[in-house]
Amino acid sequence: IDPIFISSSLIGWYGQHKRALPWRETRNAYHIWLSEIILQQTRVAQGLPYYLRFVETYPTVQELAAAPEDEVLRLWQGLGYYSRARNMHHTARQVVQEHDGIFPENYAELIKLRGVGSYTAAAIASFAYQEQVAVLDGNVFRVLARVFGVTDDIAVPASRKVFQTIADSLIPADAPDTFNQAIMEFGAIQCTPLMPDCLFCPLQQVCFAFNHGMVQELPVKAKA
Ligand code: ADE
Repeated sequence: IDPIFISSSLIGWYGQHKRALPWRETRNAYHIWLSEIILQQTRVAQGLPYYLRFVETYPTVQELAAAPEDEVLRLWQGLGYYSRARNMHHTARQVVQEHDGIFPENYAELIKLRGVGSYTAAAIASFAYQEQVAVLDGNVFRVLARVFGVTDDIAVPASRKVFQTIADSLIPADAPDTFNQAIMEFGAIQCTPLMPDCLFCPLQQVCFAFNHGMVQELPVKAKA
């Protein structure tokens, strides 16, 4: 399948259907990092007010770094997984002390930060710096498994390579940030786990799963 058709279809769909979310309107790496840490195990609707509060209370990484830990944890109250908040605070101090308060500006440096894994590093690198590195999350796995008919078990770490190779072949150099947002949003809204909207899907004609009656079978995920 023509990668340009896929990427431009996803980006076109995104332009029509995307939710207006504040972290999509900024290229401030610190704000984008905050949003991704907050959203790691949290739904958008639940995380949004926390994001707004953190950005308002600590507009810069210096201000977050300077805050007492108990204040940061109080602001985090209700989100759970408090190690996320502690890692976040630690990382803010690290950025101030070791990077002069300037967020690392590429994937390889970002992934060295505590609490920043491959997904979060790719998200920040692409959204803040337009680096051409594809994000992989549950939504992206599902979209790629269905469109390309990938049957590798997404619960097996080795499968990651297969999906990364496909995603890297799709991400356009001139809009890596929009593409990453688009494919995640497409998985969240259109190509959903249980009742995907195949009837109105821009990828219907090229989708392996749709054309082989395998939409409910993909992605493959070993039972826990
Ligand atoms: N969940 C995690 N990151 C997200 C993002 N950038 N936009 C929407 N939902 C998300």
